[in-house]
Amino acid sequence: MKIRRIPFDIGQAMGIGVDFDFRWAYDEQTSLVGVGYSFYLEYIEYFCNFVSKYARPYIDDQALLNHEQAFLTQEMHHAKAHKHLNSFLSAAPAIKDAFHPRIYPYLQSFHEAHYKPIMQGIAEGKPSALKDALFKIAVFESKNCVSSFIFFEQLFLGSNFERTCASSGNIGILYLLAYHFAEEIEHCDIAVDMCQYIFQEPVWNAARVQSQIFDLHHAEQESLTAALHCAQQLGVKTDIDRLSSSPFMTFTKARQIELINVDFDLNAGTVLEQRKFYVRHWDEVWEPALRQRVLQQIEERTAAID
Ligand SMILES: [Fe+2]
Ligand SMILES: [Fe+2]
Repeated sequence: MKIRRIPFDIGQAMGIGVDFDFRWAYDEQTSLVGVGYSFYLEYIEYFCNFVSKYARPYIDDQALLNHEQAFLTQEMHHAKAHKHLNSFLSAAPAIKDAFHPRIYPYLQSFHEAHYKPIMQGIAEGKPSALKDALFKIAVFESKNCVSSFIFFEQLFLGSNFERTCASSGNIGILYLLAYHFAEEIEHCDIAVDMCQYIFQEPVWNAARVQSQIFDLHHAEQESLTAALHCAQQLGVKTDIDRLSSSPFMTFTKARQIELINVDFDLNAGTVLEQRKFYVRHWDEVWEPALRQRVLQQIEERTAAID
């Protein structure tokens, strides 16, 4: 696992304050879903940071602790990078409370309903709250890995890479999401390992497959609510139904149902093979090619301003 750095100013790469175009993907709805995810991811990354402090004392395996440290470092880099985009798209600044440093106004109700009670319980030393949090993170990371497969498959695999780059209205956002999803694929197993190490029970039992994969889940609503807010800010007409039936959401949901069952193992079989393939391909092929394009665009923009 390595800690990657975005090799340019990500705000500049996304054209923030210059000529911002939200249409980073091949269709508007997927582009909106992507910026909605950006808010949800930043929110959850700070949640992981909070939980980590309380979980680490339960681990006495140094290798797992080292992995967890790398996982968290990646997450904090993601949150910092997404902040540029999110601060720009949010109508009002993020606020903080005793548990979370950056709550965007339209995620406040989700925070109050689904996260704050857990964080409060953890701070009060309740073991059940810590368990809830670690399972929540393990579920999130597992699902996120599958979303990331869809991202690379649909946008980068084979001839899709050239097509996506040619049609993207914002290769800065494209880079941010791709860099982020590559690291999500790389570190997703750590969250599951942490959970299983501490509680000695599988994350993906039949009840959790039902509640987190088949039943409607609030986590999807969080990113969709953020996407809807962005659409309003950008003056684009849409609704929750259109967003949730976007190609990205549709493919992701289907793949989660296909892959995540009681046998789901991030470290075995075709799931592990795909994880290795996408991370290696990002580092060796897609990242250098996309970086080149972003740097060229920054140079052109700078020249146009001068
Ligand atoms: Fe992340
Ligand atoms: Fe993650």
